[in-house]
Amino acid sequence: MGAERAFYVCTECGESSAQWLGRCPACGNFGTMSRESREPPGRRTTLAVSRPLRMVELGGEAPRLQVGIPELDRVLGGGVVPGSLVLLGGEPGIGKSTLLLQAAYALSEGGAKVLMVSGEESAAQIASRARRIGCLHPDLYLLCETDLERVEEAARELEPRVMIVDSLQTVRCPEMDSAPGGVNQMRECVLRFQGLAKDSGSAVFLVGHVTKEGLLAGPRLVEHMVDCVLYFEGERFDSLRVLRAVKNRFGSVSEVGIFEMTDGGLREVEDTSRHFLDRRPQPVSGTATAVVMEGRRPLVVEVQALVVPSRLPAPKRVSTGIDHRRLAIDVAVLERKGRIKLDDRDVYVGISGGLHILEPALDLAVCAAVASSRRDRALPPGTVLVGEVSLTGEVRPVSRMEERLREASRLGFSTAVLSARSRARTSRLDMDILEVDDVKGALARLGIYAADR
Ligand code: TYD
Ligand code: MG
Repeated sequence: MGAERAFYVCTECGESSAQWLGRCPACGNFGTMSRESREPPGRRTTLAVSRPLRMVELGGEAPRLQVGIPELDRVLGGGVVPGSLVLLGGEPGIGKSTLLLQAAYALSEGGAKVLMVSGEESAAQIASRARRIGCLHPDLYLLCETDLERVEEAARELEPRVMIVDSLQTVRCPEMDSAPGGVNQMRECVLRFQGLAKDSGSAVFLVGHVTKEGLLAGPRLVEHMVDCVLYFEGERFDSLRVLRAVKNRFGSVSEVGIFEMTDGGLREVEDTSRHFLDRRPQPVSGTATAVVMEGRRPLVVEVQALVVPSRLPAPKRVSTGIDHRRLAIDVAVLERKGRIKLDDRDVYVGISGGLHILEPALDLAVCAAVASSRRDRALPPGTVLVGEVSLTGEVRPVSRMEERLREASRLGFSTAVLSARSRARTSRLDMDILEVDDVKGALARLGIYAADR
């Protein structure tokens, strides 16, 4: 037997090298080159078109298959495309298996044959969970297997419309002698599932675990190979779960699906704004309400701030749900342009409902909540604030203002504070509009501006 040559593959980008290197020459990461013992079997070509054809003569996209869970269908871009590969990533315990079990049940209810493959849990465990959350169906098949060839065999025999593989990291191609979850194993398995999906027209969902750093455990490479990458996110101690598309060859990546984890499985959250709003009879100091966009959906959220005297030479700025750099900037702008003294105060800011918001349209509400807590004065009731705050203290207009205000109005908000440069047509809305130029002006209109120094 000839000695097998070892080679090394970067777990981040998939670059290979004949010798071990401390740093990957392609992506520059340190310590990511891992030993693999055999070249992957030759790549199969999976494209159906092998000679040039006129594009107009090619058939259109096959009709999509509706899963039957509207929040999931929307994130997929209007249902799942037959023959496509969808990767569902998320931290362990977030609810990936639960979501796909419910999807499998909904698909079966809609008349599609579904095969679930699990290498993570025993058949008894899965069946008992399915029974508990009401997801048993005669057209729903389960195979507890980690051997790729047997999975392929089962798929050929059963011919399911949809196949769910939980998880990619546990499947093993027996022709390769490296451990499951390694770069080569995963690449090979994805290629084989891709072939299977394209040949049979089945849609394949692959579950992928994510490490603490937020990357799929294993190569990013897998993300490039699939058609659609979804992430399931949420805080461990909060029941809210957000499903986000980060890549979609068949649709937009701006859509999100919102769920709540309950004792009976995942439940779709329909009136999302109400879910994120802490309603109380009287406004309290340190809170401000904003309208942010999650995908194409406006969400009314509450920003909560607490400003307390600090004993530290560098006072704390702590945020949950918003970027800490963004908070540091908003606080600096408030100090300098809003004339709110904060250099001897610790500032804590959070978002109600456990959501993570990156949108700059939240800036004005963050500034108002911090100023309100610092002055211990509540904002006028029924007010929403929507605007980005620049480093110069100017309040800038943001996109989709009318949609945002319509949502706020629907929930009973009567006043909106926004940029004077915003060209939103607000005349048809039943709201008072306060147009402001800068942070100082906004705080003055809200009755919380007063020079501290
Ligand atoms: P799971 O789908 O197994 O997560 P993943 O596949 O992403 O690892 O979900 C695990 C968690 O969800 C578990 O901690 C318990 C919780 N859970 C509920 O709260 N209610 C339920 O009905 C189910 C099925 C799970
Ligand atoms: Mg799981």
